[in-house]
Amino acid sequence: MLIRLYALPEPSRPGGAEFADNTVVRKPIGCEHGLLVAWVQAEFGAGWASEARVALQNRPASLLMAVQGGQPIGFVCYDATARGYVGPIGVQASARGTGIGGELLRAALEEMRTVGYGYAIAGAVGAADFFRRVAGAIEIADSTPGLYAGRLQDRR
Ligand SMILES: CC(C)(COP(=O)(O)OP(=O)(O)OC[C@H]1O[C@@H](n2cnc3c(N)ncnc32)[C@H](O)[C@@H]1OP(=O)(O)O)[C@@H](O)C(=O)NCCC(=O)NCCS
Repeated sequence: MLIRLYALPEPSRPGGAEFADNTVVRKPIGCEHGLLVAWVQAEFGAGWASEARVALQNRPASLLMAVQGGQPIGFVCYDATARGYVGPIGVQASARGTGIGGELLRAALEEMRTVGYGYAIAGAVGAADFFRRVAGAIEIADSTPGLYAGRLQDRR
């Protein structure tokens, strides 16, 4: 899906750096990287953990996380699958539906706009309505599987 970074919809609920039960959206510092990647792997699997590692290696890191009570409860990457891509994005199941995913996605897209992108691409979208609602994303014709065609499969 394609996202116009210059025409993002207004948030449907109040957000900000701190919202919803003291949840904070921020970048991890170095000593948090290992714990964060382990959490992504446990919650969402090896592929997303691999993309989180890529995002954390970028300078500046292109990953934001949502933290509640000292624990990660959500994350979003950009420039991880490939340059200009946003995602993966995930919120732990018990915290979904409270605005955290929307806040994470908006934060990542605002950062992409700040660093100079005009558009973002969301690939292999598993929650198209979420991207439509939060970011005004539109389909890109003939782009499935797109970049993911022929990717390595885990046969272990
Ligand atoms: C998709 C995901 C990140 C959304 O996070 P969330 O914290 O539940 O989302 P929010 O509560 O911020 O919802 C934001 C808006 O999107 C809507 N929304 C959220 N998930 C949706 C879905 N799966 N389908 C349609 N709309 C959705 C909400 O209703 C809300 O709309 P509103 O602002 O008008 O009330 C979360 O469900 C998730 O981690 N899913 C599993 C991983 C996944 O599929 N990631 C996307 C891969 S492309």
